[in-house]
Amino acid sequence: MGGINVIEIEIVPDHESASARVAGFIVEQIRRKPASVLGLATGGTPERTYELLVEKVDAGHLSFSQATTFNLDEYVGLRPDHPQSYHAYMRSRLFGATDFDAERTHLPKGTADELSDAGGQYEALIAEAGGIDLQLLGLGANGHIGFNEPGATEGSRTRVVDLTEETIAANSRFFDSPEDVPRRALTMGIATILEAREIVLIATGESKAEAVERALRGPVTPQMPASFLQQHPSVTFVLDEAAASLLDKRA
Ligand code: GLP
Repeated sequence: MGGINVIEIEIVPDHESASARVAGFIVEQIRRKPASVLGLATGGTPERTYELLVEKVDAGHLSFSQATTFNLDEYVGLRPDHPQSYHAYMRSRLFGATDFDAERTHLPKGTADELSDAGGQYEALIAEAGGIDLQLLGLGANGHIGFNEPGATEGSRTRVVDLTEETIAANSRFFDSPEDVPRRALTMGIATILEAREIVLIATGESKAEAVERALRGPVTPQMPASFLQQHPSVTFVLDEAAASLLDKRA
């Protein structure tokens, strides 16, 4: 396995403790460097993590006033004020509920006139900010990270992608009907994600167990986008017991 790094694995009993652990990573990062650049994720999994961070800011134990953020992805065609846009998700769950400076919170622009330019512009903004210090990731049941679906290459950058039927079906729970789910998204690429200095992935529940096992123990392949994380020197997977249930416990 020459050249492959070992991913740290932390297994905790349940979703609540996984959320607390991941919130802890972000708190530590901000304490160490208040002007950190955070890479942020959406989806159901990190919702509780964000609630815990809001509680800490409310209690006066944490401030994001100097931090900069870049979200992984956004649906193509949803305006920032669309309730199911990731802009709206981040505003209601984190940015609007804490002391982030709106000028320093970024998401890809899924309604950009020139979508083909939007990716390069996003990459330039990340570079200008000095790169991402800590990237938070969720995990799709098919192994996607951000919206890098199976087939995404190691060198991929922020770009427009087609969502798989499986992802559209999984995300339809947030929309009135499956037809309302956008079929394309703008997402950071695998190369963008791997440039973060540190990465923390949170996965909970049995539906993620197979993807977790393949990401950690399977070959590094575009068919399992999360497997590329094996090539990064500083990754931690925070898992609940259900998501870890298919791992044999050997290192
Ligand atoms: C979504 C997001 C991903 C997220 C994943 C898992 O479609 N684009 O960033 O990690 O799918 O979502 P969930 O946490 O709801 O299972």
